[in-house]
Amino acid sequence: MALIFRGTLVQCITSRSIEILEDHILRVNEDGFISDIYPYAGGESPKYFPGDPEIIQMPPFTFLFPGFCDLHLHAAQFLYMGSGLHLPLMRWLDEYAYKAEERLDKDPALARAVYCRLAQRLIENGTTSTLLFGTIGEETNLILAKAFQDAGIRGFVGKLSMDISSRPSYTEHSAAESVAAAKGFIKKCKALVAPLPAYRRLVHPVITPRFVPTCSEPLLKDLAVLASEEGVRVQSHLAEARDMIDYVSKEYGVSDFEIFKRTGLLRDNAVYAHCTYLTDPQMSELSRRKVSIANCPLSNCYFSSEPFRGREAIDLGVNVALGTDVAGGYSIDMMNSMRHAVTVSKIRDGQAAEEDDSKSLVVDWIESLYLATRGGAAALGLGDLHGTFTVGAAFDAQMVQLVDPESHFGKGALDFFDTNPSKAITLEHIEKWWCMGDDKNRIGLWVQGRNVWPQVTKT
Ligand code: GUN
Ligand code: FE
Repeated sequence: MALIFRGTLVQCITSRSIEILEDHILRVNEDGFISDIYPYAGGESPKYFPGDPEIIQMPPFTFLFPGFCDLHLHAAQFLYMGSGLHLPLMRWLDEYAYKAEERLDKDPALARAVYCRLAQRLIENGTTSTLLFGTIGEETNLILAKAFQDAGIRGFVGKLSMDISSRPSYTEHSAAESVAAAKGFIKKCKALVAPLPAYRRLVHPVITPRFVPTCSEPLLKDLAVLASEEGVRVQSHLAEARDMIDYVSKEYGVSDFEIFKRTGLLRDNAVYAHCTYLTDPQMSELSRRKVSIANCPLSNCYFSSEPFRGREAIDLGVNVALGTDVAGGYSIDMMNSMRHAVTVSKIRDGQAAEEDDSKSLVVDWIESLYLATRGGAAALGLGDLHGTFTVGAAFDAQMVQLVDPESHFGKGALDFFDTNPSKAITLEHIEKWWCMGDDKNRIGLWVQGRNVWPQVTKT
């Protein structure tokens, strides 16, 4: 069924501004694409099509905002999110990450429970698209794909490829075995959604070499060939942490950037997480090659001794998106990812200004909203319109309520003292939501026009 909303729409058309469309009609067709947008008050009377439902009247101080895209999270690590973060990366991987992933590979019922809960938590937190790292095991990754498809959230699912491991019970045993397994997963993941029309397919396979320390060069080369043959995306970790950089330099005598480059994996549909140690020329090369970066500021604060150089990356033309990096990051909420990205950029800017205050290194809150919506959508190849309220765009959106309609100071209210229901939503209201809002301010979420949480409208 179609959907028709009347209320305020908020979006980032450019990275430097927020557009507030007050009292608009937005219609979504049965296939989940926006078919009409126009001002209501004083404008055209609403267009109806046979069978259209009642207009959903959005309450005062409520607006629709595009859904967030989380461009880096480890689904299996949700099992133990918020554990062991006193350790440096390489030890944390040994002592927590690999163990949790292996546990899910051995226990499909637990995997199903973890992945269903993860999908639900993401949805409650406004996330409509995800780029996921899974585990090594095929069955577990198919459980993940099915959990996301069934929950109604977009999931680009990465079966991990790793033919080297510090944990002998959690590894693939050769490059050939690993590539064959990647190929098998791609086929089965595509088959899972093949009966559906293209616009209802929410899950897609992604080639996912874990990172250079766990992948032989023959494996990386073969995965690059597979990516071309299958036309699927690639993701990995790049230049993430001091201990990892030192390990690669000692083992291989070059950087992981060089190894990804010479194996053909710096390609135009790839997304690399972290990238905290990249130089300007390396960032320019990513920009030329149309590689995206997933900035994960919270986990960088724990594992990297360098902050991500976000301002420079964006100004050098790299497409930057944001990720939570669950469970290197302990928050599933992309609003925290945006806040941390801005906070880190402010510290960098303050430090740099002591030497030279002619250039700002700030990534501000408005730009962070752009990165969390349109930056992510671009990295996932969801189309130029994705993350906007534009005719033809898929309707992936969250409904945000700034104040409790019963009492302005109730649960979830942002404590506006000057609130008057007849007043319009302003930039200041949106900034306040960005700073202090959370899941209590979210009253609905739609993916491809389907209401996935809570079930307030039927489609
Ligand atoms: N590098 C390789 N694997 C991982 C992982 O699971 N988490 C993080 N943060 N970095 C990694
Ligand atoms: Fe990660």
